[in-house]
Amino acid sequence: MPGILKLHLTEIIPNKLDTGMKKFKAYSKAQSDERIRNDAHIKIRDFYSYLLQARDPETGKGFSEDELLSEASVLIVAGSDTASTVLAATLFYLLHNPPTLTHLTETLRSTFSTLESIRSSPALNTCAYLRACLDEAMRFSPPVGGLMPREVLAGGAVIDGEFFPEGVEVGVPHYALSHNEAYYPDSFSYRPERWIVGSGRELTEKGDMGTEGYGTEESVQLAQSAFCAFSIGPRGCLGKGMAYMEMSLVLARVLWLYDVKLQAGSTLGEGNESFAEGRRRRGEFQLIDTFVSKADGPMVEFKLRAE
Ligand code: HEM
Repeated sequence: MPGILKLHLTEIIPNKLDTGMKKFKAYSKAQSDERIRNDAHIKIRDFYSYLLQARDPETGKGFSEDELLSEASVLIVAGSDTASTVLAATLFYLLHNPPTLTHLTETLRSTFSTLESIRSSPALNTCAYLRACLDEAMRFSPPVGGLMPREVLAGGAVIDGEFFPEGVEVGVPHYALSHNEAYYPDSFSYRPERWIVGSGRELTEKGDMGTEGYGTEESVQLAQSAFCAFSIGPRGCLGKGMAYMEMSLVLARVLWLYDVKLQAGSTLGEGNESFAEGRRRRGEFQLIDTFVSKADGPMVEFKLRAE
């Protein structure tokens, strides 16, 4: 991978892409400079507080301006694009699965009596159906859908019966793992129930066909064992807790306050034979992998709830 840097690809990158990069770098620099300028007045410790105070244990040096700028760029992309993609995907799947939308909306409106009571709290954190709706959207359409490369260390590694020598990069794309039927049966159906022990039985009793076998202790454990939207291990997402908090808050408040429906005439997610192979499936929120993701829609109508 580092070899790519030596190819000087930036010199042949199309103008439009390059202009976008320059704009983004300028934005990141402005944000970073402003944060550094205001450091003395900032009382709450945030990611940047730790970066500004960090010292190399051997040299005693802090991060250079360029290094801080690079961290700022990572944090801006990692912290904004991902969570907004998940919120768009969750709204898409809820709007394409009306009983699920109704169940989540009713759960939120009966759990919280006022809009203001929906805040970072145990009640929000333990709202299992809300969390399951987010997790199922991240599984179906992972916001970081590609693979997170990992380099094989000295001595090589045997993976799935194959030997990989030292230095080789390996990885499994999150999208592929998220649709592995061994972990996620009926993987192209949006089923938050697969994340909640006991919920499949309830659904089957209500007559929702095809839900048998969902939500058993073993099936939930199996689903969780392969969940990788945030990656896992020491390089896994640093902002996972914060991401859950902001996504839960936004989704819960929106559905508590508004009745939502798809914009009239919307054909998003209807599939079409003219689409490229792999993009024709009905009911899937399509993402384009750009390390994070590019998405289209959904276009949603919001109406203040009646009572
Ligand atoms: C739904 C939201 C999010 C998803 C799906 C997500 C996903 C990921 C993934 C897949 C990685 C790569 C880990 C690896 O290489 O193994 C990552 C890294 C990272 N994420 Fe997130 N992320 C989200 C939100 C956030 C937020 C809100 C922040 C902070 C503001 C954040 C900060 C970071 C940072 C700093 C890294 C780099 C960690 C490292 O290299 O040690 N992320 N994230």
